[in-house]
Order: sequence, then structure tokens, then C-alpha cells
Amino acid sequence: MTHKIILDTDPGIDDAMAIFFAFQSPDIEVLGLTSVFGNVPVTMAAQNALALCELANIDIPVCKGVGMPWVGPESTYAHFVHGDDGFGNINHPAPKGKIDPRSSAEFIVEMARKHPGEITIVAVGPLGNLALALRLEPELPKLIKAVNIMGGAAFVPGNVTPVAEANIWNDAHAAEIVFAADWELNMFGLDVTYDLPFPPDFTKILAEKNPILGGFVEKSSRFYTEFYSQGKDSEQCYFHDAFPLAYLLDPSLFEMTEGNARISTDALNKGQTIIAPAGTTASPDWTQAMTVNVATKVDHPRLTQFFIDTYAL
Ligand code: BDR
Ligand code: CA
Repeated sequence: MTHKIILDTDPGIDDAMAIFFAFQSPDIEVLGLTSVFGNVPVTMAAQNALALCELANIDIPVCKGVGMPWVGPESTYAHFVHGDDGFGNINHPAPKGKIDPRSSAEFIVEMARKHPGEITIVAVGPLGNLALALRLEPELPKLIKAVNIMGGAAFVPGNVTPVAEANIWNDAHAAEIVFAADWELNMFGLDVTYDLPFPPDFTKILAEKNPILGGFVEKSSRFYTEFYSQGKDSEQCYFHDAFPLAYLLDPSLFEMTEGNARISTDALNKGQTIIAPAGTTASPDWTQAMTVNVATKVDHPRLTQFFIDTYAL
């Protein structure tokens, strides 16, 4: 079965690895890439997404999305993690093609109306485009099959603050809207992505198996690996954004926990994803909140091999 997806992204090195994983999978049809601010400003995110399509020789729409959080000033960016260019400062050539004239949110709504009940939105950046799409089309949850996100930290600490993960922290108000919508939401947060560090050998194997796409991931992740290896005994990095795609293809790789979810928007706890597992509270503040499925365990060897095998195709 082929899964139709829209990949909402802020490339970003782990975004690039995830985008190529989706392109390589014979069971995924990527309808388009929708970009959002996050790791880098949105104009750079859109250009980077287009550059990745061109490198992979994939001709699909690439849209530019929201550049600001739903509430508050422009965000700070993660150049210290992903480099000045979002690709680990590798001087990758600028794309030649054009960004689609539709906004990311318009594209999501248009595709959802065209393929009702068929599309999974895989969102691996802040959630502003999805929140805006919900405003443009309040019936969107009925038109979308599921939403798989990389974001949040349910039962583990955050990576921006002690309680918040970057994608949710970057646009907590948008995340609050997305988590409150009545759709199937599967969350892949730091609970699983920080549980699986990848050594440099992993990207070397990707490069051997797939010199163009794996080669790009290997080269761009050197800067990223330096960041993630600070204070560690050995070199490592994390490929957060590929997890929600892996789930789409093989849910048996993960253990999921169902719970009622809320997103904090207050200053101190901004972006906290608070999950009340089913049956743990009778408080209406929680029982009336939407239910989400949170990944709490991942099969390390099988997921690693799955990435390698898919890059090798
Ligand atoms: C998330 O934040 C970004 O830096 C990564 O691309 C990933 O989506 C991890 O917290
Ligand atoms: Ca990302």
C-alpha cells in the first residue's frame, strides 16, 4: 500500500535525512514539501527543501509557509545545531527551480480536499502551517487520514528547556491548536528520538549504500555530530525527523501510549507536552482534552536497519 503524505519541514539536517528516507521508500508518495520556520528562517527552509528535491531528482511542489510563531516575536533559529545554511555549512549549491506560489497551509488544504481521507501529514518542524490550515479549513480533520509529528517530550526532559522540545517550544500556540483538533495524532518526541544515538558509522553506511543522498547526509551531519557530541564519550547524532515516517511504514517498530494531551503556553513552561495516559486522572481538564498516541519505545536494531535498507534501494 502506498501512503500519500505531505511532509512539513524546516530543513535542517535530520529533516534532510527524513526527506530522503521518504523519497527512497517505494511505499510513500510525497505530494509536496511544505516549509516552515524552525531550524532556519522560512525562506531558507523553502530553498533548502527545494535543493533537496533537486538533489534527489524529485519534481514535486515545494511551498513556503509561516515564518513567525502564532503569538509573539520572531523566533531564534538553531544555526548552532544545523549550521548557517541549515546543512552543516557544506556550501551546497542553491536550487534552480521555483517555490510553488501556494502557501504551505493553502497547499495542505487543497490536497486534503482533493484526496479526502487519504493523506497523512508528517510534520517535523514547528506546527504553524498545520494550525493555519485548520483555520483555513475547519473540516480539515475529517479530510486528513492522520498526523504524525516529530515533536514534544512526554515523559522525558526537553531539549530547549527542562520541559520543552524545540519544535513545540518554537510555536507553542500553534501546537496547542494542532493538539486540540479532532484527528489521529501520533507523536514521536524525544522519548524515542533521544533514545537512539547514531554513531558516524551509520552515516558512512548510508553514503556507501547511496552515494548521492546518503553522501549528502554523511557530509552535512559532520557539523551536527560535533554539536551533539559535546560532553559525550563518543561521537553521535540524532535523526529525530525520520521516526514519524518509519512509524507510517512499520508501526511495529514502536510501542505507543495513549493519553490526553495538553500543550503549555505560559512563559515558564512554554511548549511542554503534558500527557495523561488513559485512566490516570478523572480531572475534566484532562479527560476532555484530545487523545494522542505517544511513542514511548522503539526497536533500535530494526529501525537502524530499516533506514539503511531504504537508503540502499
Ligand atoms: C527537532 O528540532 C529540530 O532541530 C530538528 O530538525 C527536529 O525536528 C528536534 O528537537
Ligand atoms: Ca525538523
